[in-house]
Amino acid sequence: MPPQELANRFQSFGQQHALAFWDELSPDEQSHLASQLAAIDLELIDSLFKGDVDQPDWAAEARRATPPPAMRLADRRGEGTSSLGLSPAEAKQTGAAAMAAGKVGILLVAGGQGSRLGFEHPKGMYPIAPLSHATLFEIHLKKAVGLAKKYGKPVPVYLMTSPVTHDETVAFLAEHKNFGLPAGDLLVFCQGTMPAVDDKTGKLLLAGKDQLFLSPDGHGGTVAALERSGAIAQMRQRGIEQLFYFQVDNPIVPICDAELVGYHLLSKSELTSIAVAKQTPAEKLGNFVMLGDRLHVIEYSDFPADVAAKLNDDGSLRFWAGSIAIHVFDVAFLERMLSFKDALPFHIAHKKVPHLNDEGKLVEPTEPNALKFERFIFDLLPQAARPIVVEYTEEECFAPLKNAPGEPKDTPEYVQRFMIAQHREWLEAAGAKVAEGVAVEIDPVWAVDAEEVAKRVKAGTAFSEETLFSDAK
Ligand code: UD1
Repeated sequence: MPPQELANRFQSFGQQHALAFWDELSPDEQSHLASQLAAIDLELIDSLFKGDVDQPDWAAEARRATPPPAMRLADRRGEGTSSLGLSPAEAKQTGAAAMAAGKVGILLVAGGQGSRLGFEHPKGMYPIAPLSHATLFEIHLKKAVGLAKKYGKPVPVYLMTSPVTHDETVAFLAEHKNFGLPAGDLLVFCQGTMPAVDDKTGKLLLAGKDQLFLSPDGHGGTVAALERSGAIAQMRQRGIEQLFYFQVDNPIVPICDAELVGYHLLSKSELTSIAVAKQTPAEKLGNFVMLGDRLHVIEYSDFPADVAAKLNDDGSLRFWAGSIAIHVFDVAFLERMLSFKDALPFHIAHKKVPHLNDEGKLVEPTEPNALKFERFIFDLLPQAARPIVVEYTEEECFAPLKNAPGEPKDTPEYVQRFMIAQHREWLEAAGAKVAEGVAVEIDPVWAVDAEEVAKRVKAGTAFSEETLFSDAK
């Protein structure tokens, strides 16, 4: 018999089917199932399904939104009229000083698998670099090594996995000795999960006779997970005051970019974000908007098409500011948000979820059959004091690996093209000449950014062949 109290609780929420196969399970499987079920907040799941949880009506919110004030590209070139009144040169100096003082850490969210890519492993394990075939993890961790070398201070990495990616990620990083990052500068921690329910009945879905179908609770779970894992305490102890946040899928992120960190510090912002100008209304990017005097991101899937299509008089998109999920957080702000973490809204996604039917047979749905519940970290934005948005070009910072070859965008070839173009640009900025059509790749430990490249490449040097710039033998 299952534990009585557990059985009663599941019965009272009409979820007793979760224990239907109890008698067929081994003692180990029974205890696995019991501990999984004990952790489920049935009241919350019930209210989410019934729509009783107070959730924003994103479509209605989008209709009253206005574009956000921002540091646009012209402002960054010193030619603009931004009300933020920040100096790019001063920002670069201020950001570099914070790096040299060892006050900035890295928060990398890597809870996703490469399913859309046809890669059933943690996405960070995807070999993406055009010449070295370095994986996303290798590129990101080596940038932390490169930054520590540049500024003379360690840059700790807080890497968030999910239950689906955790063990494989930990083993992979250990096998590769963290790609040179000292063990004390890497903390890998796992985010939480949420169950999925049948879209018609609200019943919890079973992935097996001894387990529920669980999926990551969204990167909104990051704040809670940072605390649970002891990461916040470690940051306090190490004197880390800012965190540079980004997603694992984007290899060209200018990690800890001094200019961005500098704007954040100069404006005393608690949460600073990069925006890129959307090319089309339907582009799959979260939208930065103002609702009243508060900055928000409204996710693309929640943003009505007609609002996204609105134009300014000059024909440009009214809601131009796309979120590429790169932020600078004050650690003190995250600590303040610990009390708010359970109040972040849930976003509901309608998805295909394989599950067991009443007979214990696996059903593979061909149409969306389930509701999944996720929290998003950018829903902290309206809580932040003095948040700012800074526009970067896609070429500077954004080439996410999302899709399998054959799709128009965000495929491995697309990402590699951006990587090569970025490195070519750094070499050319240093005065080198790279022959047309020649692929170049720069190992982040060799040079982490354009400034570091300029120290290592003599102006006038010509590269006529494919070249991998690396110290590795
Ligand atoms: C995401 C953003 C979107 C942004 C776009 C830019 C969300 C909800 N939306 O969209 O606003 O414009 O990226 O590329 O994030 N992740 C976790 N745990 C989770 C869920 C996601 O760690 O529970 C990580 C994944 O590893 C991945 C990233 O977050 O690196 C983004 O997830 P994905 O589902 O690919 O988001 P998009 O729909 O592309």
